[in-house]
Amino acid sequence: MSFKEKVIYQIYPKSFLDTNQDGIGDLAGIKQKIPYLKRLGVDMIWLSPIYPSPQNDNGYDVANYTAVNPMFGTMADFETLIATAKEHDIEIMLDMVFNHVSTEHEWFQKALAGDKKFQDYFILRDEPTDWVSKFGGNAWAPFGDTGKYYLHLFDRTQADLNWRNPEVQEELFEVIRFWMDKGVKGFRFDVINLIGKDEVLKNCAENDGKPAYTDRPINHDFIHMMNQATFGKADEMITVGEMSFTTVENCILYTKPEREELNMTFNFHHLKVDYQDGKKWTQMPFDFARLKELFHTWGTQMSEESGWNALFWNNHDQPRALNRFVDVDNYRVTGAKMLASAIHLNRGTPYIYMGEEIGMVDPDYDSMEKYVDVESLNAYQELLLAEKTEQEAFEIVKAKSRDNSRTPMQWDGSMYGGFSTVAPWLALGNSVNQINVAKELQEGSLFNYYQKLIKLRKEYPVIAEGSYEAFLSEHPQIYGYIRRFKGQSLLVLNNFFSQETTIELPEAFQNGETLINNYDNEKLDKEVVLKPYQSIAIYC
Ligand code: GLC
Ligand code: CA
Repeated sequence: MSFKEKVIYQIYPKSFLDTNQDGIGDLAGIKQKIPYLKRLGVDMIWLSPIYPSPQNDNGYDVANYTAVNPMFGTMADFETLIATAKEHDIEIMLDMVFNHVSTEHEWFQKALAGDKKFQDYFILRDEPTDWVSKFGGNAWAPFGDTGKYYLHLFDRTQADLNWRNPEVQEELFEVIRFWMDKGVKGFRFDVINLIGKDEVLKNCAENDGKPAYTDRPINHDFIHMMNQATFGKADEMITVGEMSFTTVENCILYTKPEREELNMTFNFHHLKVDYQDGKKWTQMPFDFARLKELFHTWGTQMSEESGWNALFWNNHDQPRALNRFVDVDNYRVTGAKMLASAIHLNRGTPYIYMGEEIGMVDPDYDSMEKYVDVESLNAYQELLLAEKTEQEAFEIVKAKSRDNSRTPMQWDGSMYGGFSTVAPWLALGNSVNQINVAKELQEGSLFNYYQKLIKLRKEYPVIAEGSYEAFLSEHPQIYGYIRRFKGQSLLVLNNFFSQETTIELPEAFQNGETLINNYDNEKLDKEVVLKPYQSIAIYC
């Protein structure tokens, strides 16, 4: 089965299921829920980092790439997880954080101790540039008492690696081979479009310095080398690159098969349409026209140039999409289905973030004390410095925090939501009694809807393979597109608002077959009335 037919499920291991009652999710917990994931129908699970780490950035600060963090279990647990998943036809995708290592990693420690070989693993300079860290503050920190500075595009404890050093490349390629030998079939590469830094680093006042270190031409060379040295030579590996602040032109290059870089890319433009002036720590209703324009531009261009998108609304860095794009108080389930259809029938490989299949929402915390994410805590302080009141700063964090999606999975309505029997590392969401897996499987319809979408992708080649064409691109409420493949066509209409709207169907679709619909519709006609958050897919 090609990666075009597959659906991938993302797990944030800390928050999935705790089996040894320490309040932290673990590998045994993931293994226990493999039958649940099988029932959903996903083909692969992507695990956010499971390696030893001081957890300053919840594991994205890796201290050892080829071991399992004892907090999650042992290497043997990982091996059993792979085996159990395989028995259920589910493969494992691991997260490779190759732009930086934790400052506790032995490479950084040896470098600090004066070892020249390891100093060349990092980006050290006498004079820092003006770049701003993505987690706030300056992107450079003093390197011990050498008088030099090391680059950290993220937290101070995440030191950027020097990919221009062939020894660094080889170390990282060896990491990929190590996990491939264990049977890992997929890799998600963390901020992989930032690895290729220029030889001479320049000040850049624009956008916190991002243009100076993002999508540099050499970045493509590094990814191609990695491909050729590791996964590119193996069958059936799936690779996805997380692309920060990227462009469609670059993502075409990263994913065009003949370039031998990656299968697909994540980009985040569609998840910034509710940022005021492009700034995350602001609040604004989402800009639908902008959202559509982005989907249409990326959909069309990737289709025309044979690039491939990873399709997603949620991940561990985003507040829940339901709280952003849907009137969640009145249309949670209908809206969730509409959002799901909009991407699962689209051109690209869909990702489901844990809890999305039951319609989980942001936790609705009542105070700053509940938040633990480093980015959120820094942002709160910066908002206060920018003269926001505590209440205003709290409201913004509440809407934007990455912790919104990191809350424990809501399995049932018991004390800790069936996640654990002790207080979890991050407080559960307030919705746990209304929204949980047990309830959903008993009386809900969203999980079934996801099951159906996953099946459709495997049954209808037009979904997996079809081209992408914008439909009704000027419509103020509808996001629509047409997929075409070998004489088959699929029209997908999504109403992103709570007002009805009537549209006229193109003739070819008037006698079409409805493949999926989040309302019980009468027969199709020339005119279709789309109800609040209605989504219909018509095949002919
Ligand atoms: C990616 C990860 C995010 C992490 C960052 C630094 O954006 O998804 O969680 O904080 O990279 O590794
Ligand atoms: Ca545990």
